Amino acid sequence: MMSDLSSAAARARELRRQIEHHNYRYYVLDDPEISDAEYDRLMQELKALETQFPELITPDSPTQRVGAAPVSGLEEVVHKVPMLSLDNAFTDEDVIAFDRRVRERLETDADIEYAAEPKIDGVAVSLRYEKGRLVLAATRGDGLRGENVTHNVRTIKAVPIELRGKAPEVLEVRGEVFMPIAGFKALNERALARGERTFANPRNAAAGSLRQLDPRLAATRPFDVFFYGLGEVQGWTVPPRHSDALEQLREWGLKISPLVRVVMGAQGCLEYYREIAARRESLPYEIDGVVYKVNRFVLQRELGYVARAPRWAIAHKFPAHEEHTIVRDVEFQVGRTGALTPVARLEPVFVGGVTVSNATLHNMDEVRRKDIRIGDTVVVRRAGDVIPEVVKVILDRRPPNARIVELPAHCPVCGADVEREEGEAIARCTGGLFCPAQRKESLRHFASRRALDIDGLGTKIIDQLVDRGLVRNPADLYALTVEQLASLERMGEKSAAKLVAALERSKNTTLPRFLYALGIRDVGEATAAALAEHFGTLEALEEATIEQIQETPDVGPVVAAHVRHFFDQVHNREVIRALRAHGVRWPDMQRRSAAQEGPLSGKTFVLTGTLDSMSRDEASKRIVALGGKVSSSVSKKTSYVIVGADPGSKLKKAQELGVEILDEAAFLALLKSAAPRG
Ligand code: IVH
Repeated sequence: MMSDLSSAAARARELRRQIEHHNYRYYVLDDPEISDAEYDRLMQELKALETQFPELITPDSPTQRVGAAPVSGLEEVVHKVPMLSLDNAFTDEDVIAFDRRVRERLETDADIEYAAEPKIDGVAVSLRYEKGRLVLAATRGDGLRGENVTHNVRTIKAVPIELRGKAPEVLEVRGEVFMPIAGFKALNERALARGERTFANPRNAAAGSLRQLDPRLAATRPFDVFFYGLGEVQGWTVPPRHSDALEQLREWGLKISPLVRVVMGAQGCLEYYREIAARRESLPYEIDGVVYKVNRFVLQRELGYVARAPRWAIAHKFPAHEEHTIVRDVEFQVGRTGALTPVARLEPVFVGGVTVSNATLHNMDEVRRKDIRIGDTVVVRRAGDVIPEVVKVILDRRPPNARIVELPAHCPVCGADVEREEGEAIARCTGGLFCPAQRKESLRHFASRRALDIDGLGTKIIDQLVDRGLVRNPADLYALTVEQLASLERMGEKSAAKLVAALERSKNTTLPRFLYALGIRDVGEATAAALAEHFGTLEALEEATIEQIQETPDVGPVVAAHVRHFFDQVHNREVIRALRAHGVRWPDMQRRSAAQEGPLSGKTFVLTGTLDSMSRDEASKRIVALGGKVSSSVSKKTSYVIVGADPGSKLKKAQELGVEILDEAAFLALLKSAAPRG
């Protein structure tokens, strides 16, 4: 550990420089030079230094992306240069007609040069950099007035806080903030596990998350961004072509889509459309079409605008991602923690370029809420490689013999009893790790990219390893030999050797990743990171009581009990010991200071019912941010019970115990009076 301030300061500067560099390689160039685990270690070293010497923390430090204090509302921002919308084309003929109009106005027969780009399905934003520093981020709004979302945009890792190299005096860039499909899926899964409302699609998730008041929440959302245009510019001679301008933005560190191309004439546009349409389903984010822009700025100026849309650009839309079909049956799949997920078997239907025959129904509450029955005609929606979803039932088309979906009494894989705890949305197989389905899922989770990141250990291989009895738990993976692996189907000597090397590499990890990889119930990435920071070492966490675990920011009694329960199982300790014996290792972390001090310190809140203005999770976070505690059960020690719509039994309990009860308006007033200004 560094002992003197000046060498620590120098090291922190060096770490920041390296982290910024790797951010640029990773986010902007999509060409990382180091592994995720190595990157995590740089971040951890910087965090440790900043914990030891808090005077070294700068507002622009990459560690500060976690988000500052909540804002009390979203301010209005007037766009000096309006943010325009685009006209749409749906057919080849529409595109040919657009190109003809362009050439007629420009009085030319020559092929026009277009910049062709994917049309990202997210939220349009405008970012203002002054002297290279991000000073303002706003949503599009109605194009003339948007909302100030700087507090949230600053948490997006793909957005530079400072531009690289020599930046202009003023640079406004326009782009699209979006949520990658995988992140959207994980977000919805977390919401489902907590019984919260889910987002209908990645676009809604991005829009909702970007407009949160609390940037700490935004910091946990998996945002990404592509920039595609300019607003106000001072002190930069903009190059003659749009495509060159984008190239310069990329050099400044602003992320540009790698799919941008320069094409010639309507034919070039249509070829581009077909190329991107073919790749649409394999992209990790949603696009709803492509955009063609006349590439030369002089020609753009000559063409001008009609109403709110430019004459020099058009959006060529892809077919929709939603279709009608019939639910033939509903079956149940068993997940990592034994959760039974109802899956609809559908009459195959072509949706957004792919034939779909299954759709997840998430859990029985969701089946009841949407009132999905076997035989129903439903709307299905798919997004990239996400498992398709049933959006809703078309009730008019329900046949008289439609069958209600029932939860099975026994696990369809291992036959163990199925249990559903009081008030839980999820039913579970009680077979534990005896159930092959649970075993496979926990191995998949352990090997996944955000966990131990074992490259090449896919579903098919895990299935074989478990079915042949070669692997029962994660530690067994590290005892596998090249010969054993090479004997599996679809595995040669070469890929077996590769997998052994990947296993070897995965041993060098970090504590947050390891904790996440263990697959403790309700411990997602964010919780794993919080636990790692709070306890610093695995040993400290293993020995902690439920009460001590609950002192971790954002960890409530339910999660704390799951963590404690996990480490109480001899079997789990045994697996951890074996993993360590195989050489799985991570550096210890600096402990973060305990609970935050604030105006609500010493107050305990219990939430019941649904609030209008925010989710329960958001309400909890805001309480914790102000120093308060959130508990799940009412006792004499409870300071306030916050009551939303349809409250549960907690309201009655509060009345019995004489605990102060606040409705939503009173709660908001309390937050407002307690919130730090600014
Ligand atoms: S250009 C004058 N380029 O589409 C040009 N827009 O319907 C204005 N969008 O509000 C926009 N990807 O939210 C442009 N590559 C792209 C885009 C894109 C997505 C969105 C943007 C805009 C809407 C226009």
